Amino acid sequence: MSAAAIQPYALLDDQECEERIIRAREKLGDRLVILGHHYQRDEVFRHADFTGDSLKLSRQAANSKAEYIVFCGVHFMAEVADILTRPDQVSILPDMAAGCSMADMADLQHVEKAWQELSEVLNPDEQITPVTYINSAANLKAFCGEHGGIVCTSTNARHVLEWSFSQRDKVLFFPDQHLGRNTGFNMDIPLEQMVVWDYDKPMGGLTPEAIEQARIILWKGFCSVHQMFQSEQIDNFKQKYPETKIIAHPESPFEVCQKSDYVGSTEYIINTIAEGEPGSRWLVATELNLVNRLHDMHKDEGTNVHFMSPNVCMCSTMFRIDPQHLAWVLENLVEGEVVNRIVVPEKEAEMARLALSRMLEVSP
Ligand code: 13P
Ligand code: SF4
Repeated sequence: MSAAAIQPYALLDDQECEERIIRAREKLGDRLVILGHHYQRDEVFRHADFTGDSLKLSRQAANSKAEYIVFCGVHFMAEVADILTRPDQVSILPDMAAGCSMADMADLQHVEKAWQELSEVLNPDEQITPVTYINSAANLKAFCGEHGGIVCTSTNARHVLEWSFSQRDKVLFFPDQHLGRNTGFNMDIPLEQMVVWDYDKPMGGLTPEAIEQARIILWKGFCSVHQMFQSEQIDNFKQKYPETKIIAHPESPFEVCQKSDYVGSTEYIINTIAEGEPGSRWLVATELNLVNRLHDMHKDEGTNVHFMSPNVCMCSTMFRIDPQHLAWVLENLVEGEVVNRIVVPEKEAEMARLALSRMLEVSP
């Protein structure tokens, strides 16, 4: 029997999908686990067995015994699930177009070129720890594994950088310059010692002197969603509501994080607002679906949760996972057909696992 095609599912309304998802989950029982990132839309998020930020979901995947792990998130997350699970477990991404535009800003070819160019000034394998944000392709995690490096998430970036500096003097941090800069600055590394590597320019657009004096070489990548937040938005809002507490994801620009009372991962943002005083007011710099959910969760206690930007900042790739795709993959599983499996080739997975296991060891 061949797998059912997606096209007929595109014609189903959300209610019909909801019922089909519930029925399929009942049939699959504990053979299935659904993981849902906090940026997922509500119609998908509510079906997750476990929800979390990237670190928490990686751990859930690693600890899962289920045969099928359906990852409602983006491509790199489903890759991590495949890397951290047994070969007989199957990792599935409901829509293959759910990538991460930031992850796409660093590829192996450019990172290898950077490593090569850096070797004209230093000995990278002795002097630089490569650190990749988990928002990156599996082959970059493998690169880090192979070169004595490590993976980080927004939760453990500081612990990972501390470990990295205990190994070598400098760090090459990719793809997100903001997470690297915000974390480095909190560790008392001056801005002048964090230089940006422009992967479109020879030598990253840097002089040998700039490379020699740098502690962190930041890849010129960013998240198009978090890049939209600006410190003026904080000033404007505070003029109206001076008592507001500001909370930001560390993928936000440096000036925004500097003006924030709290900075941390999606899970941290959720927990911090939940622990806040009832009736408090929050201005939040992270993805819109999560901020809307926080607003709905807390409005009955009189807590006000506001979105920082006047523009809509949704992660369009997270949004690709819709109830239609979820119903499609689950009904195929009920029929014994696997669609949209994510497989990381074993050689690459082995090195990537090394970098991920270093991360899990140093994580709080
Ligand atoms: P978290 O790990 O904080 O959930 O972040 C993932 C992400 O992609 C944020 O843009
Ligand atoms: Fe990637 Fe930004 Fe979307 Fe997170 S919010 S998945 S970093 S594009």
